[in-house]
Amino acid sequence: MAGWLAPDESVAVNLTVNGEARQAHAPPRRTLADALREEGFTSVHLGCEHGVCGACTVLIDGAPVRSCLMLAVQGRGHAIETVESLCDGDDLGALQQAFDDNDALQCGFCTPGFLMLIEGFLRLEPEASRQQIVEAVSSNLCRCTGAVGIVQAALDFQSTRRRSP
Ligand code: FES
Ligand code: FES
Repeated sequence: MAGWLAPDESVAVNLTVNGEARQAHAPPRRTLADALREEGFTSVHLGCEHGVCGACTVLIDGAPVRSCLMLAVQGRGHAIETVESLCDGDDLGALQQAFDDNDALQCGFCTPGFLMLIEGFLRLEPEASRQQIVEAVSSNLCRCTGAVGIVQAALDFQSTRRRSP
């Protein structure tokens, strides 16, 4: 029928990722996580693919979002940020450095999701208490490091940002 797309027919999807305009081509039902990975942002990891683990967390207009639960076409008109945006040139950004300093990762599979979760949370709640950070971090899963180092990294990063916002 005229006007309807076949299930695997692609449409142009204009996305803004880390401040750069991109035109992806994806079927309407493709998730944002898959579309970002196809665009080369393989830091967007896929664990559960149904909203539980948080490995696919990116920022949408500054807020943490599970990109496996969002369609690529829904990303049009929004500012999308992936973990690449946290780097300081070729160096680690302050939050990434705090993870390194606190041994907040082992295999690293969950790490991009945690980094974007914490970055987004502390933008929204810059004066969050330790308990609030613990609760925020508890929304993502890590199967090999545990939360202690991750929470401490978030606290260290919060202190760093207070000193030089
Ligand atoms: S892959 Fe998206 S929440 Fe697990
Ligand atoms: S560092 Fe391995 S799952 Fe978190």
